[in-house]
Amino acid sequence: GKVHHHKFVVKSTSFTRLCSSKNILTVNGQFPGPTLKAHRGDTLVVKVYNQANYNITLHWHGARQVRNPWSDGPEYITQCPIKPGNMFKQIIHLTTEEGTIWWHAHNGWARATVHGAVIIYPKRGHSYPFPKPHAEVPIILGEWWKEQVMEIPSVANITGGEPILSNAYTINGQPGYLYPYTFKMIVDYGKTYLLRIINAVMDEELFFAIANHKLTLVGKDGLYLKPIKTDYIMITPGQSMDILLEANQQHHGHYFMAARSYSSAFGAGFDNTTTTALLVYKNSHKHHKKSPILPNLPPYNNTQASTSFTKKFRSLATKTHPINVPKKVDTHLLFTFSVNLLNCTHDKPCTGPFGMRFAASVNNISLVHPDIDFLSAYYYKIPDVFEMDFPKIPKREFNYTAEKLPEYFLSTSFGTKVLVLEYDASVELILQGTNVLASDNHPVHLHGYSFYVVGWGFGNFDPKKDPKNYNLIDPPEETTVGVPKNGWVAIRFKANNPGMWLLHCHIERHASWGMNMVFLVKDGPNSQTQMLPPPKDLPKC
Ligand code: C2O
Ligand code: CU
Repeated sequence: GKVHHHKFVVKSTSFTRLCSSKNILTVNGQFPGPTLKAHRGDTLVVKVYNQANYNITLHWHGARQVRNPWSDGPEYITQCPIKPGNMFKQIIHLTTEEGTIWWHAHNGWARATVHGAVIIYPKRGHSYPFPKPHAEVPIILGEWWKEQVMEIPSVANITGGEPILSNAYTINGQPGYLYPYTFKMIVDYGKTYLLRIINAVMDEELFFAIANHKLTLVGKDGLYLKPIKTDYIMITPGQSMDILLEANQQHHGHYFMAARSYSSAFGAGFDNTTTTALLVYKNSHKHHKKSPILPNLPPYNNTQASTSFTKKFRSLATKTHPINVPKKVDTHLLFTFSVNLLNCTHDKPCTGPFGMRFAASVNNISLVHPDIDFLSAYYYKIPDVFEMDFPKIPKREFNYTAEKLPEYFLSTSFGTKVLVLEYDASVELILQGTNVLASDNHPVHLHGYSFYVVGWGFGNFDPKKDPKNYNLIDPPEETTVGVPKNGWVAIRFKANNPGMWLLHCHIERHASWGMNMVFLVKDGPNSQTQMLPPPKDLPKC
């Protein structure tokens, strides 16, 4: 494959939105950041220069980084942050990815403005599993914040309360028709377009639709799906979707595309505004006097609309795009995902709800980052940085999704632990939502891997009944899966990528509260199945 060299300069840049100007963190002065394009089999070499006043790291969301966790990016997991004035070169081999993935900052809340698309075409000489589109358009769903986003986590940590909300959603950096900034996509009647949609929003799942137009979902997270024709999509933070759009409606001239929240948590604060962009047919000026039509989006609390869409996902499972789902499992894991409420303490006073503070956990452990990254600590055998006893199943079994849970479940403990997986283990992991404090849809993302979603359901996972209904024929392969509100998802993967790999909720307030855990996947038996050595310029703490 070809090697693509890129220079990413992270710096503060002034932008004007919502009628006022402010400095935001950008890459190369762009918001959203630059789109990278490559073919499957190519390599990206990105020199990341930090010219900002904050530490920074960059993550390649959806890239597998086979044997090379050193370029994965999450701060204090696989590297220490790049300090102001420094540079770090990241290398991403695109061996199995095909479709849309993306890159974003992976320290604090920097990803709110530091993000962009990565488009991966099929291998040279190969074609899409669908007719070649006339053109391709990245659609990045984002937000605009009047506050300084870099200050949000510390503010939320001090008060123990909810982090503030953004002031508007955006499409390709523009908030839409209520403001003088609207993204316009120009189309030719009769042509088909490939939209590469990314949800780069921090905290909200989104419904998205285009007035009068059907959408055909053909891929997700850089992996193909059997085509799904739909009126709307639901896309969680972290996910990317490839959508075919047939421009077959010119009589009105222009149409809105729009996105707004799907909010599964009862009572949790969310932004109920709608962001819009315009779909404009070329040569349709005679219609321009009519105001464009808004699409019908499901109501914000419509969990049924969300799941009736996501349950349709299926892998292609063809000769050219085969699946490789583990049929036998040797490592069974069950993780609970909970939002917790803790008492304020002397050293941690707080003013959250009921004078308490929020936390969030996986198997009732809230991840605390070490001062040196897990990966270096492991590689250089630095003692006492982390423990190896992250529990394979919850310490205490309970009715996870009961209406009312006893109060002691509200608590969590803090830990810097990893779960050790043997090389090539066949893993089944149940992601179990809970009703502790409040149930919510958790978009769970696993670094370093893609996995098969073999089953899902509402309520508690039943190890006797539910596996009987698993799909082992054409389960969708994903890297970020929405665990439904008060429900569960079963995923399977082969632990064949050695390294330290973060698993976390991609709702940033949950991640900030501790909803993260780390896998340590051991080296394989030979040099081809072992982790590569660290790069010379790896940032030091
Ligand atoms: Cu897109 Cu760990 O993140
Ligand atoms: Cu979550």
